[in-house]
Formats: sequence, C-alpha cells, structure tokens
Amino acid sequence: MTKFKTPTIVVNFKAYQEVDGEGSLRLAKICEDVAKESGVNIAVCPPMVELGSVARAVSIPVFSQNADPHAPGSATGWITASMIRSTGSVGTLINHSEHRSDNRTIEESVELIKAEDLITIVCAESVRKAREVAAFSPDFIAVEPPELIGGDISVTTANPLIVEDTVSSVKDVNKKISVLCGAGVKTGKDVAKALELGADGVLLASGVVKSKDPKATLQDLIKYI
Ligand code: G3P
Repeated sequence: MTKFKTPTIVVNFKAYQEVDGEGSLRLAKICEDVAKESGVNIAVCPPMVELGSVARAVSIPVFSQNADPHAPGSATGWITASMIRSTGSVGTLINHSEHRSDNRTIEESVELIKAEDLITIVCAESVRKAREVAAFSPDFIAVEPPELIGGDISVTTANPLIVEDTVSSVKDVNKKISVLCGAGVKTGKDVAKALELGADGVLLASGVVKSKDPKATLQDLIKYI
C-alpha cells in the first residue's frame, strides 16, 4: 500500500454543488494549505469528473469516491481501479452509505483496487458490517451510522460505542486494518474524541464542504492532532 499517515482527516466532497467544476480544486487547495501548515494528513475525495484535475494539482492524497468491480476493457461507464491510479490518486472509498454494494462486490473491488496498489477505504454502516468487510482485508474501514450522516451531532457524541466496538471487532479480525469514523463530525473536539475512542481518523463531508469558511473549519478540526 502507498504510505498513508494517520491520524488522518478524509474529506469526502460528495456531489455537493459547492464542489462542481472549479469548486473541487478550490476546496482541495484549501485542504492542502491546512495540511502543509499543520503537518496533518488531510486527504480529499472529489467527484469522479474532477478526480484527475484535482489529483494532478495538489500534493495531498486524493481518493476516488467509488470504484467498480471491473477490469479494464469493455466496460462502458464503469470506473476501474486502473483508471483511478492513472489520475495520480492514491486510493478509493467503496461501499459508501450513499453508494452501497453487496459483500461479493466489495470483496471483488478490494482485490482489484489492491492489485493497482491503491488504498482501500471500505465504509460500513454498523459494527456487524465492519466485521464482515474486515474479512476482505481492506486498508481502512470507515464506520458511519447512516442516520447521523449530514447531521449536526457527531457519531462520537451520539454513538461512541459504535466507534469503540468497530475498532475492537475489526482488530479481532485483522490488526493491520485501520479504522475511521464519520457522520456529523464537525469540530476538533469531535476528532479528538474519535482518536480517544481508538479510531485512526475521521471521514467527513458537510462540516467542511458546506462550511462558510472551510479553512477555519479545517484548522479547528486538526487542532488536537
Ligand atoms: O463520507 C462522509 C460522510 O458520509 C459523513 O458525512 O456530512 O455527516 O460529515 P457528514
């Protein structure tokens, strides 16, 4: 796997209009500035159509928001791991709550992604799902309770147990897998709590993408790292 420092803040741009077109690069540059000033590993997940232009323009790690379980070749409209690697991106999310896959697809995707030497972040909506996907040996598992996604209460406050239990369940299966948590994460205190609960970082979106001042938000998010 490409080297990837933890603790980390992974910012998923989703498909918010703020990151349409030039918006993606603008936000990625802000993340890069804060990463450089602080030394914290901040990664970004722009929409697929902006992946290459962002990955070529910033020095922080860039991830795709998804990868399809297809080898290169006749696969119109599908996103292959090879395609993602060729943009200069370092990895990809898969099985996000807003882009779910079945376990067979997740397993196949993890294999194809690893074969391209990309970092895999598999999202899981529950401790049980996290344990199931740990069997496929991704690099990271990100636990995110769907009901808290996009809200104002952080998973670390609303359901700290899911973070702790995911860490212990995943480590039970494979100690090498790192765990992230997400949903409602907005502040440095939320990140500090995530680390205290045993996570290696956070995966977040609206707190940064919809912020009136993304730089100030990021500076707060990294405050206790
Ligand atoms: O992928 C990150 C995510 O689903 C959490 O979203 O907006 O609650 O930070 P948000």
